[in-house]
Amino acid sequence: MTFDPLTIRKDFPIFGRSIRDGKRLVYLDSGATSQKPSVVIDAESDFYRNHNAAAHRGAHQLAEEATEAIESARGIIADFLGGATDEIIFTKSSTEALNLLAYSIGSAAKENPFHLKAGDEIVVSEMEHHANLIPWQQLAKRTGAVLKWFEVEPNGRLDLSNMKSVITDRTKIVALTHQSNVLGTINPLAEIVKRAHEVGAIFILDACQSVPHMPVNVTDLDIDFLVFSGHKAVGPTGVGVLWGRASLLADLPPFLFGGSMIESVTMTDATWAPAPRKFEAGVPNMAQIVGLGAAVSYLTNIGMQKIHNHEIEITQYAISKLQEVEEVRIIGPTDMNLRGGAVSFTLGEIHPHDLGQYLDNSGIAVRTGHHCAWPLTRKMGVPSTTRASFYLYNTIEDIDALITGVRDAQKYFA
Ligand code: ALA
Repeated sequence: MTFDPLTIRKDFPIFGRSIRDGKRLVYLDSGATSQKPSVVIDAESDFYRNHNAAAHRGAHQLAEEATEAIESARGIIADFLGGATDEIIFTKSSTEALNLLAYSIGSAAKENPFHLKAGDEIVVSEMEHHANLIPWQQLAKRTGAVLKWFEVEPNGRLDLSNMKSVITDRTKIVALTHQSNVLGTINPLAEIVKRAHEVGAIFILDACQSVPHMPVNVTDLDIDFLVFSGHKAVGPTGVGVLWGRASLLADLPPFLFGGSMIESVTMTDATWAPAPRKFEAGVPNMAQIVGLGAAVSYLTNIGMQKIHNHEIEITQYAISKLQEVEEVRIIGPTDMNLRGGAVSFTLGEIHPHDLGQYLDNSGIAVRTGHHCAWPLTRKMGVPSTTRASFYLYNTIEDIDALITGVRDAQKYFA
């Protein structure tokens, strides 16, 4: 099947509406959240209409159907990532998944292999968004561990020249983004994962900006944990995924305590069910999990490689057209071999918020600001940027609208 974004757009009801007094919606903010196809909206609605009951509880038919629905979604997501079904943990977001890891590791007792002590090291990078930075800062503060990081070069790539002094024998955790939400940079994981494992550290991949956009296989990457968000992958809000190696999940202590995560409970103590249940206390976000299963099936049917190729094509076009505009500065790599489809830029002295508002008047939705990655924008020497982020439903026409909008704004603010 050939890839046709115009046909794909028809699957997304939101593109049927107009914006700002009848203008065509040019949605270039999928890095923040993606739009949803009918199959996802329908899957959520069908769950509530026909199958709603508390999964993993209850002795009735609806409870059985609800359980079957979320367990089937778990299987779909495991296949999608190349992991085992019991290695998929549903959270409410990728932010919660990263906090789960940080809190669980922080609570590991002395005899637990995850135990962190003063002087142990946690490694991140300057290009992390806040969700993969602040939980580790806080874990370091709670345990006395030392937070270290890879720096970002002016060209938007990680400086890995000092890999051996950043990841050392004291490193216990390396937590890194796969693709920067600001720069679009795709990081060279193989050498970093190899070094992390050489020193006995675990490698955690923040795949929020990669899993929705390209094939990602946890076995091929040889990583230990991965997180991604449903809502950035054409799925519902309120559901995120944590994948972890089964052998590691067995030792990792739980984060949230409550119903369904237990094996046995007395008035003074409790023991835990095996993963994934150990990490899923409380009634799960069932409709959202079912919606995410539908989203992942939808993406898989189209083909992740095709989606990636399309994004590379339109991003290359966008970068080359933006570079033709005087005073545009692209913040991040311009070589398509090193990046995905999030393009941040500045336009002379025009404040990104003003540019964003101007574009919005033409129906063009972009994100402006520090993109929840404040240390990174500071490092790149810009208080904020305008970011256009692309997805499977974007067309060359969308990019042309952006370029026209940017050129018009330049004249307007001159
Ligand atoms: N991290 C999300 C973004 O990049 C919210 O917009």
